[in-house]
Amino acid sequence: MKGAIFYSSKYGSTEQYANWIAEATGLPVFDAIEGNGDPSRYDFLVLGSPIIYFRLIIRKWLKEHWAGIAQKPVLFYSVSGALAGKKLDGWISKSLSQDIVSKMHVVNLGGRQIPGELNLFDGIMLKVAGLFNPDREAGKQESKGFDLMDKDSIEPILQWVRQISNKVEVA
Ligand SMILES: Cc1cc2nc3c(=O)[nH]c(=O)nc-3n(C[C@H](O)[C@H](O)[C@H](O)COP(=O)(O)O)c2cc1C
Repeated sequence: MKGAIFYSSKYGSTEQYANWIAEATGLPVFDAIEGNGDPSRYDFLVLGSPIIYFRLIIRKWLKEHWAGIAQKPVLFYSVSGALAGKKLDGWISKSLSQDIVSKMHVVNLGGRQIPGELNLFDGIMLKVAGLFNPDREAGKQESKGFDLMDKDSIEPILQWVRQISNKVEVA
Protein backbone atom coordinates (compact mmCIF):
# COMPACT_ATOMS: atom_id res chain seq x y z
CA MET A 1 0.00 0.00 0.00
CA LYS A 2 1.82 3.13 -1.13
CA GLY A 3 1.52 6.65 -2.42
CA ALA A 4 3.52 8.85 -4.79
CA ILE A 5 4.00 12.46 -5.79
CA PHE A 6 3.65 13.53 -9.44
CA TYR A 7 4.32 17.14 -10.38
CA SER A 8 4.95 19.36 -13.36
CA SER A 9 7.05 22.51 -13.03
CA LYS A 10 8.26 25.16 -15.48
CA TYR A 11 10.73 27.16 -13.35
CA GLY A 12 11.32 24.80 -10.40
CA SER A 13 9.12 26.02 -7.52
CA THR A 14 6.52 23.24 -7.87
CA GLU A 15 9.40 20.76 -8.04
CA GLN A 16 10.85 22.30 -4.87
CA TYR A 17 7.54 21.75 -3.04
CA ALA A 18 7.40 18.16 -4.40
CA ASN A 19 10.90 17.51 -3.02
CA TRP A 20 10.01 19.02 0.37
CA ILE A 21 6.91 16.78 0.55
CA ALA A 22 9.00 13.76 -0.51
CA GLU A 23 11.64 14.49 2.18
CA ALA A 24 8.99 14.81 4.89
CA THR A 25 6.90 11.76 3.88
CA GLY A 26 9.33 9.38 2.19
CA LEU A 27 7.02 9.17 -0.86
CA PRO A 28 8.66 8.71 -4.28
CA VAL A 29 8.53 11.77 -6.53
CA PHE A 30 8.10 11.88 -10.33
CA ASP A 31 8.17 14.59 -12.96
CA ALA A 32 4.82 13.84 -14.63
CA ILE A 33 5.79 15.17 -18.04
CA GLU A 34 9.04 13.18 -18.19
CA GLY A 35 6.74 10.16 -17.92
CA ASN A 36 8.99 7.94 -15.80
CA GLY A 37 6.31 6.85 -13.31
CA ASP A 38 2.88 5.21 -13.58
CA PRO A 39 0.31 6.82 -11.23
CA SER A 40 -2.10 3.88 -11.54
CA ARG A 41 0.40 1.70 -9.59
CA TYR A 42 -0.11 3.69 -6.36
CA ASP A 43 -2.88 3.65 -3.74
CA PHE A 44 -2.98 7.42 -3.22
CA LEU A 45 -1.44 10.40 -4.99
CA VAL A 46 -0.14 13.90 -4.34
CA LEU A 47 -0.23 15.91 -7.57
CA GLY A 48 1.21 19.41 -8.09
CA SER A 49 1.24 22.02 -10.84
CA PRO A 50 1.78 25.74 -11.24
CA ILE A 51 -0.64 28.11 -12.91
CA ILE A 52 1.01 29.49 -16.05
CA TYR A 53 -1.05 31.93 -18.12
CA PHE A 54 -4.25 31.21 -16.15
CA ARG A 55 -4.03 27.43 -16.60
CA LEU A 56 -2.54 24.42 -14.77
CA ILE A 57 0.32 23.07 -16.85
CA ILE A 58 -0.41 19.49 -15.70
CA ARG A 59 -3.94 19.56 -17.15
CA LYS A 60 -3.27 17.45 -20.27
CA TRP A 61 -1.34 14.79 -18.31
CA LEU A 62 -4.02 14.67 -15.62
CA LYS A 63 -6.85 14.23 -18.13
CA GLU A 64 -4.90 11.48 -19.93
CA HIS A 65 -4.23 9.58 -16.68
CA TRP A 66 -7.52 10.28 -14.91
CA ALA A 67 -9.13 6.91 -15.71
CA GLY A 68 -6.38 5.16 -13.73
CA ILE A 69 -6.51 7.66 -10.85
CA ALA A 70 -10.20 8.52 -10.40
CA GLN A 71 -10.90 5.86 -7.74
CA LYS A 72 -7.89 6.77 -5.57
CA PRO A 73 -7.52 9.45 -2.89
CA VAL A 74 -5.85 12.46 -4.58
CA LEU A 75 -4.47 15.64 -3.06
CA PHE A 76 -3.77 18.33 -5.60
CA TYR A 77 -1.59 21.37 -4.83
CA SER A 78 -1.55 24.41 -7.08
CA VAL A 79 1.38 26.85 -7.11
CA SER A 80 0.79 30.43 -8.23
CA GLY A 81 1.26 34.14 -7.76
CA ALA A 82 -2.45 34.61 -7.01
CA LEU A 83 -3.50 33.76 -3.48
CA ALA A 84 -6.30 31.32 -2.63
CA GLY A 85 -9.64 32.73 -3.75
CA LYS A 86 -12.23 32.91 -6.52
CA LYS A 87 -9.80 33.90 -9.27
CA LEU A 88 -7.55 30.92 -8.57
CA ASP A 89 -10.49 28.52 -8.15
CA GLY A 90 -11.78 29.70 -11.54
CA TRP A 91 -8.46 28.97 -13.30
CA ILE A 92 -8.29 25.51 -11.72
CA SER A 93 -11.88 24.71 -12.77
CA LYS A 94 -11.19 25.89 -16.32
CA SER A 95 -8.06 23.71 -16.55
CA LEU A 96 -9.77 20.49 -15.39
CA SER A 97 -13.33 19.18 -15.58
CA GLN A 98 -15.65 19.78 -12.61
CA ASP A 99 -15.75 16.01 -12.14
CA ILE A 100 -11.98 15.89 -11.59
CA VAL A 101 -11.84 18.96 -9.30
CA SER A 102 -14.68 17.67 -7.11
CA LYS A 103 -12.85 14.38 -6.45
CA MET A 104 -9.56 15.95 -5.33
CA HIS A 105 -8.53 17.57 -2.07
CA VAL A 106 -7.11 20.92 -3.26
CA VAL A 107 -4.42 22.99 -1.49
CA ASN A 108 -3.14 26.34 -2.87
CA LEU A 109 0.53 27.22 -2.34
CA GLY A 110 2.40 30.45 -3.11
CA GLY A 111 5.02 30.32 -5.90
CA ARG A 112 8.07 32.20 -7.02
CA GLN A 113 8.85 34.24 -10.10
CA ILE A 114 12.35 35.61 -10.64
CA PRO A 115 12.41 37.95 -13.71
CA GLY A 116 16.07 37.11 -14.53
CA GLU A 117 15.26 33.38 -14.80
CA LEU A 118 12.42 33.73 -17.33
CA ASN A 119 12.87 32.83 -20.98
CA LEU A 120 12.62 35.72 -23.44
CA PHE A 121 8.97 35.11 -24.39
CA ASP A 122 7.74 34.80 -20.78
CA GLY A 123 9.83 37.81 -19.73
CA ILE A 124 8.25 40.04 -22.37
CA MET A 125 4.72 38.67 -21.83
CA LEU A 126 4.86 39.25 -18.08
CA LYS A 127 6.33 42.75 -18.42
CA VAL A 128 3.50 43.73 -20.80
CA ALA A 129 0.82 41.98 -18.72
CA GLY A 130 2.17 43.75 -15.63
CA LEU A 131 1.86 47.15 -17.29
CA PHE A 132 -1.76 46.63 -18.35
CA ASN A 133 -3.15 44.67 -15.39
CA PRO A 134 -5.92 46.81 -13.84
CA ASP A 135 -5.18 45.09 -10.50
CA ARG A 136 -2.01 47.12 -9.74
CA GLU A 137 -0.74 44.78 -6.99
CA ALA A 138 -0.96 41.78 -9.34
CA GLY A 139 0.58 43.94 -12.09
CA LYS A 140 3.62 44.78 -9.95
CA GLN A 141 4.03 41.09 -9.09
CA GLU A 142 3.96 40.20 -12.78
CA SER A 143 6.62 42.67 -13.86
CA LYS A 144 8.90 42.71 -10.79
CA GLY A 145 8.59 39.09 -9.67
CA PHE A 146 7.90 37.68 -6.21
CA ASP A 147 8.87 34.92 -3.80
CA LEU A 148 5.99 33.39 -1.85
CA MET A 149 7.70 30.02 -1.30
CA ASP A 150 7.07 28.75 2.22
CA LYS A 151 8.17 25.31 3.41
CA ASP A 152 5.74 25.44 6.35
CA SER A 153 2.78 25.79 3.95
CA ILE A 154 3.09 22.09 3.02
CA GLU A 155 1.91 21.11 6.54
CA PRO A 156 -1.75 20.49 5.47
CA ILE A 157 -0.41 18.21 2.72
CA LEU A 158 1.72 16.26 5.22
CA GLN A 159 -1.31 15.89 7.51
CA TRP A 160 -3.42 14.57 4.62
CA VAL A 161 -0.69 12.05 3.69
CA ARG A 162 -0.48 10.85 7.32
CA GLN A 163 -4.27 10.42 7.50
CA ILE A 164 -4.51 8.56 4.20
CA SER A 165 -1.52 6.33 5.00
CA ASN A 166 -3.18 5.29 8.27
CA LYS A 167 -6.50 4.54 6.55
CA VAL A 168 -4.79 2.54 3.82
CA GLU A 169 -2.81 0.50 6.38
CA VAL A 170 -5.96 -0.26 8.41
CA ALA A 171 -7.97 -1.25 5.31
C1 LIG B 1 5.00 32.70 -17.81
C2 LIG B 1 4.30 32.73 -16.48
C3 LIG B 1 2.94 32.89 -16.41
C4 LIG B 1 2.30 32.91 -15.15
N1 LIG B 1 0.95 33.04 -15.10
C5 LIG B 1 0.35 33.08 -13.88
C6 LIG B 1 -1.06 33.24 -13.79
O1 LIG B 1 -1.78 33.28 -14.78
N2 LIG B 1 -1.61 33.33 -12.55
C7 LIG B 1 -0.84 33.26 -11.41
O2 LIG B 1 -1.39 33.36 -10.31
N3 LIG B 1 0.49 33.08 -11.48
C8 LIG B 1 1.10 32.99 -12.68
N4 LIG B 1 2.43 32.83 -12.75
C9 LIG B 1 3.21 32.62 -11.51
C10 LIG B 1 3.56 31.14 -11.37
O3 LIG B 1 2.42 30.40 -11.05
C11 LIG B 1 4.64 30.99 -10.29
O4 LIG B 1 5.78 31.69 -10.72
C12 LIG B 1 4.98 29.55 -10.00
O5 LIG B 1 5.77 29.50 -8.84
C13 LIG B 1 5.70 28.88 -11.17
O6 LIG B 1 5.87 27.52 -10.86
P1 LIG B 1 7.16 26.71 -11.35
O7 LIG B 1 8.37 27.42 -10.78
O8 LIG B 1 6.98 25.35 -10.78
O9 LIG B 1 7.15 26.72 -12.85
C14 LIG B 1 3.08 32.80 -13.98
C15 LIG B 1 4.47 32.65 -14.07
C16 LIG B 1 5.08 32.62 -15.30
C17 LIG B 1 6.58 32.44 -15.35
